[in-house]
Amino acid sequence: ASSLSVNDLEEAIILLFYGYSKQIFINNEWHDSTSGKKFTVYNPATGDKICEVEEGDKEDVDKAVKAARKAFQLGSPWRTMDASERGRLLYKLADLIERDRLLLATMESIDGGKLFSTAYNMDLGGCLRTLRYCAGWADKVQGRTIPMDGNFFTFTRLEPIGVCGQIIPWNFPLVMFVWKIAPALCCGNTVVIKPAEETPLTAIYMGSLIKEAGFPPGVVNIVPGFGSTAGAAISHHMDIDKVSFTGSTQVGKLIKEAAGKSNLKRVTLELGGKSPNIIFADADLDSAVAFAHNGLFYHQGQCCIASSRIFVEEPIYEEFVRRSVEQAKKIVLGDPLSSCVNQGPQINKAQFHKILDLIESGKKEGAKLECGGGPWGDKGYFIQPTVFSNVTDGMRIAKEEIFGPVQQIMKFKTVDEVIERANNTHYGLAAAVFTKDLDKALTFATALQAGTVWVNCYSAVSAQCPFGGFKMSGNGRELGEYGIHEYTEVKTVTIKIPQKNS
Ligand code: TAP
Repeated sequence: ASSLSVNDLEEAIILLFYGYSKQIFINNEWHDSTSGKKFTVYNPATGDKICEVEEGDKEDVDKAVKAARKAFQLGSPWRTMDASERGRLLYKLADLIERDRLLLATMESIDGGKLFSTAYNMDLGGCLRTLRYCAGWADKVQGRTIPMDGNFFTFTRLEPIGVCGQIIPWNFPLVMFVWKIAPALCCGNTVVIKPAEETPLTAIYMGSLIKEAGFPPGVVNIVPGFGSTAGAAISHHMDIDKVSFTGSTQVGKLIKEAAGKSNLKRVTLELGGKSPNIIFADADLDSAVAFAHNGLFYHQGQCCIASSRIFVEEPIYEEFVRRSVEQAKKIVLGDPLSSCVNQGPQINKAQFHKILDLIESGKKEGAKLECGGGPWGDKGYFIQPTVFSNVTDGMRIAKEEIFGPVQQIMKFKTVDEVIERANNTHYGLAAAVFTKDLDKALTFATALQAGTVWVNCYSAVSAQCPFGGFKMSGNGRELGEYGIHEYTEVKTVTIKIPQKNS
C-alpha cells in the first residue's frame, strides 16, 4: 500500500462517488427504497457529506426476505448447486475483492475514518483470507453415521438453516460483512444483511461483486438502513430462520428479545468487551508495552477486543506506565488517507461525546491523566490518545466499554487477586497474559473467563480460530469450524433395516 500514488487514490475516489449504485440490493438488482427515503453518509474525518443512500425499512426487508426465501426453496438453483460450486463462487468473490482492493480500502477509509493502510492491509487481507477459508469448507461440511441401538441405520446431515438475517456494525464494515456472509453461504443458506448506517458503502459495493461472481438472484440481499427500523424488522421477522448480530451488548439484548417474541429464530451475538490484559514482572517488557498499546489504540480504540483493562504487576508498574505514555505521545493524528498518520477520527459525534464524557469521569474519579484527555483539531471527530494510570476497579473507565483511544493501567500484587479482578466483569470476549512462566500462563489460560485468551501476544485473530464471547460478550462463535457449524441445523435420519450387523 505504501507504493500507491495519490493519483491511484484520486481515481479510486472518483469511482467511489460516480461509478456505482447506492441503492438496496435484492435479487441481484438495485432498488430504490419503498418509502422513497434516503439517508446521508458522512466522512468522519471532515464532517462532510459523502453521498446519499436509499434507506431500507420494514417493507424493503420484507421484499429481501421474500427473495431470500425463494432462493432457498427446494429445487432452486442455489439448493441444487454442488457444494463445491458454492465454494468456487466464494473463491471467485475473493478474487474480485482482490481486484478491487484499492477501491474498497479507499471507501472504507473515507466512510469509516479507518487508516487507509489498515484498511488495505489488515481489513482487506482479513476479508480475503476469511472468504477463502470458508470457500474451502463448502464441500467439507458433513454429518456422521451413528451406531444406534436396534435394527436401524442412522446418519446425520448438516443442513443449511435457511434465511439468515445479519446485522453488522461500523468499526469493521467489510470484515464484518465477510465474517457474516461467507460461513452462511458456504453452508448453503441465503442472506439478508443490514450494514451500519454510518458505513454502508463497501457493503453496497459488495452487491455488484456478488452479482459479478455469479451467485444466483436472492442468495445475498443487502438492505442499508437504520437499526431501529430495518434492523428491528430483521430481528422480529417471522420468516427469518437465524439472526447474527455484531454490535453493542444493549442492542444484542434487543435482538435476542425480538427472536423470542417472534419465531424463536436462532441467534448468534458478538458483543462488547472490557478485556483484561495482565502483565507480569517477568514478561518481555518491550513486547508487552507494544502489544498493550496496539491492542488498545488500534483503529482509534474502536475494537470489541480492545485491551482496555491493563493490569501490571507492582514491581514494573511505573516503568510500564512511563513506556506506554511514551508510545501514546508518538501517535500522529490526521487524515486517515495519509500514510504518515496513525490515528484517524472516531466514527461520529455520539461516540466522540461518549468517549469525552468517560475521559472526564476518569479525571473526576481520581485516575491520573498521563497524557491526552481531550479533543484534537478543529474538524472531524478526533480525540487525543489518552493514558490513565492509578486506575481502580470501581471507576467508570475501568468498567464501561469506552470504544476510544483511552488506555487504563491498573496495578496488581498477586496471582489470585488479579484473576478475581480480571473476571469481575459482565463481559468475557478476550483476555491476555504476558509472562515467561509456562505454569503461570497455563493457570491463566484456564482461569480467565473469556472466549479467547492470548499468551504473550494480543489481537491475534484469524479465520481458522473460533471467535466470540463468554457472559454478556455474546452467544455462539464466528470463524473456524465452530463458526461454520453455527450456520447449520443437525438432522438425524433413521432408517429401519431388516437386520443390523455391527
Ligand atoms: P449498535 O447500536 O449496537 O449498532 C450495531 C448495529 O446494530 C448497527 O447496524 C445498528 O444500526 C444496528 N441496530 C441498532 N439498533 C438496533 C435494533 N433495535 N435492532 C436491530 N439492529 C439495531 O452500536 P452503536 O450504537 O453503533 O455503538 C454503540 C456502542 O456499541 C459502542 O460504543 C461500542 O461500545 C459498541 N460496539 C461494539 C461493536 C462490536 S464489534 N462488538 C461494534 C460497534 C459498536 P444503525 O446503523 O442504525 O446504527
